Amino acid sequence: MKKILVLSTSPRKGGNSDMLADAFIEGAREAGHAVEKVCLREKDIRFCKGCLACQKTQSCVIHDDAPAIVRSMQQADVLVFATPVYYYAMCGQMKTLLDRANPLFPAEYAFRDVYLLAAAADGDESAVDGVVNGLNGWITCFDKSRLRGVVRGVGATLPGDIRQKPAALEAARQMGRQA
Ligand SMILES: Cc1cc2nc3c(=O)[nH]c(=O)nc-3n(C[C@H](O)[C@H](O)[C@H](O)COP(=O)(O)O)c2cc1C
Repeated sequence: MKKILVLSTSPRKGGNSDMLADAFIEGAREAGHAVEKVCLREKDIRFCKGCLACQKTQSCVIHDDAPAIVRSMQQADVLVFATPVYYYAMCGQMKTLLDRANPLFPAEYAFRDVYLLAAAADGDESAVDGVVNGLNGWITCFDKSRLRGVVRGVGATLPGDIRQKPAALEAARQMGRQA
C-alpha cells in the first residue's frame, strides 16, 4: 500500500482536471492505496518570498496553509498534480505551491513517482507540453523522483467537458490502479 497525495490545483470547482484527479483516486483506492486529496482552491497559499531561509531552517517564514501541504508532500510515496493548462503552462496556483515546496530541496523526502493530470481547451495533445516541461524542471531538482505518467485531457473547455473524453478519464483511473 502506497501513500498517495493528490494535489488538485484548479481554482474551478468540479472542473476537468479535478475530475481527472477523482478518476485517478478511484483507481488508486481500488488498488488499496491510501489516498489524500488536497484542493488548493480551499487553501491560503501566498507567493514564495525568495528569502531562502528554508535552505538553512527547512521551514518557511510564511505562516499560511502551504507548510502543512508541503509536509504531506514530503511524507507521500506518490505525488499527483492535477492542473488546468493556462497559457500553455501549469496554472499559477500549482507553480506557487511548487515554489513554496522549496524547504524540501535540502531535505529528505519519500516521494519517488510523480504523475500529472492536465486539462486544456486546445484539442492537440501538445497543449500539455509546457506543463510537462515546467513540472520536469521541479522534478529535476528532486532527483530521487521521476515523472511516471501524464494524462493529457485535451479538448475540454467548460467544467465537465472531460466527460466527453472517456479515454482520458479511463487513463487516469488506470494510472491510479497501477500507481
Ligand atoms: C487564464 C486561463 C488561461 C487558459 N489558457 C489556455 C491555454 O493556453 N491553452 C488551452 O488549451 N486552454 C487554456 N485555457 C482553458 C483551460 O485550460 C480549460 O478550460 C480547462 O478545461 C480548465 O481546466 P479546469 O476545469 O480543471 O480548471 C485557459 C483558461 C484560463 C482560465
